[in-house]
Amino acid sequence: FQEKTLGGQHWVITAGPTREAIDPVRYISNHSSGKMGYAIAQAAVNAGANVTIISGPVSISAPAGCKVINVESAEQMHQAAMKQSDNADVFIACAAVADYRAADIAPQKMKKSSQDMSISLVRNPDIVKDVAAKANKPFVVGFAAETQDVETYALGKLTSKKLDMICANDVSIATQGFNANQNALTVFDKDSSTEIPLADKAMVATQLVKLIAEKRS
Ligand code: C5P
Repeated sequence: FQEKTLGGQHWVITAGPTREAIDPVRYISNHSSGKMGYAIAQAAVNAGANVTIISGPVSISAPAGCKVINVESAEQMHQAAMKQSDNADVFIACAAVADYRAADIAPQKMKKSSQDMSISLVRNPDIVKDVAAKANKPFVVGFAAETQDVETYALGKLTSKKLDMICANDVSIATQGFNANQNALTVFDKDSSTEIPLADKAMVATQLVKLIAEKRS
């Protein structure tokens, strides 16, 4: 796998969590660190690609040489992804996008009372599904973080979201996946599966980038 293998290609990667505002001081989010997405970005840069990361709020710094578009909400990430994927060769959805957002964002800080309260939630757009539905779609790769029936759920997402490839990881194992430094993936496309064994995310990312480059050529 040569240094300039991906020369001239534009890879777009979503990474990190999204933040869904409830009021000016509160939000709904998740524990995604962005580490896997940023590691893939680094591996793609190393192989010569022009890389754009569309990133939710994370505490890690982006690899040198990447363009970074910082967003907060799923709707902002969706808008950036639809635009950036126009001229992308590969789109990788690594972000842990919140499935729901508050139906209404309170304009002022919400005050507590003696009563219980509930917040009405509405569905967020499915970013990777919408990119994969575009007429001029890039090669689209999704992730499936599962705690059970990993293969079944991953293959279901490959089909329902019309992805070219899906990377499944079992997040019930604490040492891999979500917020960990290591990961192990089973990568499915429509007619094959490939195991990328447990290793540092940088190593896993390099193998994944190589696999994507092979599969799309
Ligand atoms: O359906 P689920 O959330 O498990 O699918 C995971 C995959 O879909 C990941 O690649 C994730 O980045 C992507 N996704 C997305 N937009 C959403 C939800 C998930 O791009 N709203």
